[in-house]
Amino acid sequence: MNINFESLLYEYESLSSTQIEAKRLFSIGVRRAVVTAKRQTSGRGRHSRCWESPDGGLYVSFLFTPQIRPSLLHLVNIASALAVRDTLRSWLKIPAILKWPNDVLVEPSERKICGILCESGIDSDRVSYCVVGIGINCNKSSIPSDLIARACAIDEFVIEPNRDELLRLVAEDFFSRVELLDEASSELLTEYREKCVTLGRNVRMDTNGGIILGTAIGIDENGELIVKRNNGKIQSFSAADAFHAKIEK
Ligand code: BTN
Repeated sequence: MNINFESLLYEYESLSSTQIEAKRLFSIGVRRAVVTAKRQTSGRGRHSRCWESPDGGLYVSFLFTPQIRPSLLHLVNIASALAVRDTLRSWLKIPAILKWPNDVLVEPSERKICGILCESGIDSDRVSYCVVGIGINCNKSSIPSDLIARACAIDEFVIEPNRDELLRLVAEDFFSRVELLDEASSELLTEYREKCVTLGRNVRMDTNGGIILGTAIGIDENGELIVKRNNGKIQSFSAADAFHAKIEK
């Protein structure tokens, strides 16, 4: 699908969070938008964490209304992770990989290059809006020092990455996937299962109820991670943090 990218673009020097601005735009009648800021003063991550957002990163939120039932919203997560992974690999030749549910890491160190936060509003059993927030580290020098061991940036692979072009390519890939969410949901899940490196790995799941160790053996049609626990029980996870155990070399 060809989107008219420029007509969707809302660009800011600084915002508290592109997520908040995207939701504000929805509240005044905007139905599709690409909201980006050079920096965020209160960037937000998953599980109500903060997302450090100094100058030098790519911070964007996509606002749209997918034509899907609320029960299929996990597909939006999957589409966004695939869009970032594929764009980093195909356009910038960065060895990006997917960690369930939607972290984009880089091989072989498995440091995180991108985080994704999907939020939505539901009204009488239909999705009224989705806001998909994507934060991509572009400059190593702007990664906070306490995260440097676990995070990496595009400029470790590509000199002077063109952030505008990266944003356009991710947006085009993403919007072309969300157009097909309903009719191509099983193909999307199949593609995600092929590309998500969490499958087959020993994992540590951090849940509200404590830490669970096991092996990731599947991703079900709801996008949940199926784990065979070390005690032999099978358990599905929808929202836990997953950590890969290091591969012994
Ligand atoms: C994560 O916890 O991994 C998700 C991080 C998502 C960060 C992005 S940056 C653009 C958008 N605006 C925000 O405040 N958060 C998301």
